[in-house]
Amino acid sequence: MTRFIGVISGKGGVGKTTTSINLGTALTYFGKDTIVIDANLTTPNIGVHLGVPVLPININHVLQGKNTITEAIYEHPTGTKIIPASISLYDLKKTNPDSLKKHIRSLRTDIVLVDCAAGLGREALLAVDAVDEILIVTNPELPAITDALKTIRLAEEMGKNVLGVILTRTKENNLDVSINNVQSILEKPVLGVIPESKSIREALTLRDSVVFTHPNSTPAINYKKLASGLIGREYTEETNSGFFKGFLSYLGFK
Ligand SMILES: Nc1ncnc2c1ncn2[C@@H]1O[C@H](COP(=O)(O)OP(=O)(O)OP(=O)(O)O)[C@@H](O)[C@H]1O
Ligand SMILES: [Mg+2]
Repeated sequence: MTRFIGVISGKGGVGKTTTSINLGTALTYFGKDTIVIDANLTTPNIGVHLGVPVLPININHVLQGKNTITEAIYEHPTGTKIIPASISLYDLKKTNPDSLKKHIRSLRTDIVLVDCAAGLGREALLAVDAVDEILIVTNPELPAITDALKTIRLAEEMGKNVLGVILTRTKENNLDVSINNVQSILEKPVLGVIPESKSIREALTLRDSVVFTHPNSTPAINYKKLASGLIGREYTEETNSGFFKGFLSYLGFK
């Protein structure tokens, strides 16, 4: 059965797209057929993060009724499957997101990860409505955590299963809210902690996921641990070496 998981946040710019891409890549290399969808229609980023060329078919065409959602799947050279959104304002104006759920739910695969718009607006809520499970992304700062709390409450009111929190861009400056405090404020487990790291910025420059470009960096390892946890698998050295095999084949060393 397909799992539909939304990656959401209260505050914008906290790391949802980075998380969706890296989780998607890690899950793919752990053998789960995964599709990452850009449901952030007004400010789509997945294509930009992964250096995807302008494609003839994207989620906007699907929502406009011109194509089926399977026709909009693009396979990144790393093997990660994505469904990008159009960056054109013209396409956006012609797109009505009301049928998003119907199209997303027609996908048949192991895992569908939905990269949502920030906040509690209509666009974000339509994406939340399309999934069953939720991952909340927040930075360890009080305003972001307060917004995350509202988002969790709303998602639960909509009957969604909030799996837990991913704390991103953590710093070693003692100004962050501690993991324990985040858990007690949000009443959800912290499933992953991704430190602020220049490896993420470098991966963005390379238009790739950090799990590929910097496989031994802390963000990469923590994203892989998070992916293993999501599929109920223990993260071991063996899991990681399987991952390296995938990486070598990506580089052309079979
Ligand atoms: N752990 C990290 N270390 C350093 N930079 C990071 C980290 N995580 C994310 N970033 C950077 O922060 C910026 C915002 O990240 P991202 O686009 O993933 O956030 P978002 O929540 O999807 O934003 P939006 O709400 O606009 O969709 C990007 O430039 C990204 O490279
Ligand atoms: Mg984003």
